[in-house]
Amino acid sequence: MAAKIGLFYASTTGNTEQIADQIAAMLPARISLHDIAVEGVAAMSQYSCLIMGIPTWDFGELQEDWDEHWDALAAQDLGGKRVALFGLGDQLGYGEWFQDAMGLLYQQLQTSGAEVVVTWPVEGYQFEASRALAEDGRHFVGLALDEDGQHGETEERLQTWLPQVVTAFDA
Ligand SMILES: Cc1cc2nc3c(=O)[nH]c(=O)nc-3n(C[C@H](O)[C@H](O)[C@H](O)COP(=O)(O)O)c2cc1C
Repeated sequence: MAAKIGLFYASTTGNTEQIADQIAAMLPARISLHDIAVEGVAAMSQYSCLIMGIPTWDFGELQEDWDEHWDALAAQDLGGKRVALFGLGDQLGYGEWFQDAMGLLYQQLQTSGAEVVVTWPVEGYQFEASRALAEDGRHFVGLALDEDGQHGETEERLQTWLPQVVTAFDA
């Protein structure tokens, strides 16, 4: 049987929460939602497959609830777990820091033994700089969503991305 997926997110103005709900609704029997603001990160240990959703705030900073639980995340042993990331950002308004928090999360996960799966091409986005770029500079380390400027792209991006995540989790 396919492993359950824990989706952990936090959201200040509701955009990431809304996307998390949308993703969970695409695979209702498999995905369980966890709002980090409510329950922290401890339940990550229950899953072998994780999706994490993080918005960038305040010019390249972590969203506040992720920030509050950052040390607890660092203390988690995520060895052997597969993790897919999605980030929320605003490329027009904050193009010098687009999706930075997803990059910070990626770096943090490197130290905790997790295997981060599924990169996402930078084509179709306009920004000056991002800490969420993969080493090749042509991909983000996870799915980049922009509800402020590209809401109309989100549904299709999710429909493309989630099957890739499931394939990587089940490989
Ligand atoms: C004050 C402020 C600062 C922001 N800073 C950034 C940023 O540095 N980089 C970025 O990509 N997006 C930035 N954003 C955009 C948010 O990430 C975006 O609106 C996101 O959808 C918010 O998600 P949430 O509603 O889940 O909190 C910022 C938005 C605000 C209002």
